[in-house]
Amino acid sequence: MSDAPLVLPILSGRQVRLREWRDTDVALVQEASRDTLIPLVTTVPRTPDETAAVAFIRRQHQRLESGAGYAFAIADLDDRAVGHIGLSPVGRTRASVGYWVAASQRRRGCAADALATLTSWASTLERLDRLELYVEPANEGSWRVAESAGYEREGLLKAWQRIDGRPRDMYMYAQLTERARVGAGRS
Ligand SMILES: CC(C)(COP(=O)(O)OP(=O)(O)OC[C@H]1O[C@@H](n2cnc3c(N)ncnc32)[C@H](O)[C@@H]1OP(=O)(O)O)[C@@H](O)C(=O)NCCC(=O)NCCS
Repeated sequence: MSDAPLVLPILSGRQVRLREWRDTDVALVQEASRDTLIPLVTTVPRTPDETAAVAFIRRQHQRLESGAGYAFAIADLDDRAVGHIGLSPVGRTRASVGYWVAASQRRRGCAADALATLTSWASTLERLDRLELYVEPANEGSWRVAESAGYEREGLLKAWQRIDGRPRDMYMYAQLTERARVGAGRS
């Protein structure tokens, strides 16, 4: 990935589509603002204010325009937004993945399908060797999502990130792209 503007594809999974954020998704962002965790670990605003929610949506477009990363709304098959998934470069050959699903839409397989869909597409991106994500040990829902999409737990990173002012341990999960596996003689 580079500083050049990125083009967001539309990606289809079994039960979700990954597409651009739209102003009409604002109520979903407002719901995410009321979540106990999402505003602490993402740039979702901490208050369900409509203007702040629209600003969140605009920031997702800016990430793409500045080359900072890909930001998708996770939409159901009726095209209603249910969550977010993003891919951000780390150095030149790695990228990290982050995701959330609004509380009212959970336990329906949306995050697992979104991550599998994003991962399969990201594995085709040039120069990308490795996809990473970080999950708190207590966040079983998230590490189950990661494992369902083929990510492997590589270890525990102690005091890796401050959340709500407190240092938190994180599991590192990763998955190599096909190109990296072949290049490293792993396939
Ligand atoms: C974690 C999160 C993304 C899961 O989203 P979801 O759409 O409900 O997940 P899915 O329905 O795709 O579930 C995938 C698997 O995880 C399991 N799972 C989901 N939530 C779970 C929970 N709270 N506890 C235990 N297992 C859970 C599901 O049963 C399913 O298991 P399976 O593979 O055996 O079928 C969602 O709870 C969330 O957004 N949480 C707040 C933000 C967050 O934690 N983001 C990730 C930061 S690393």
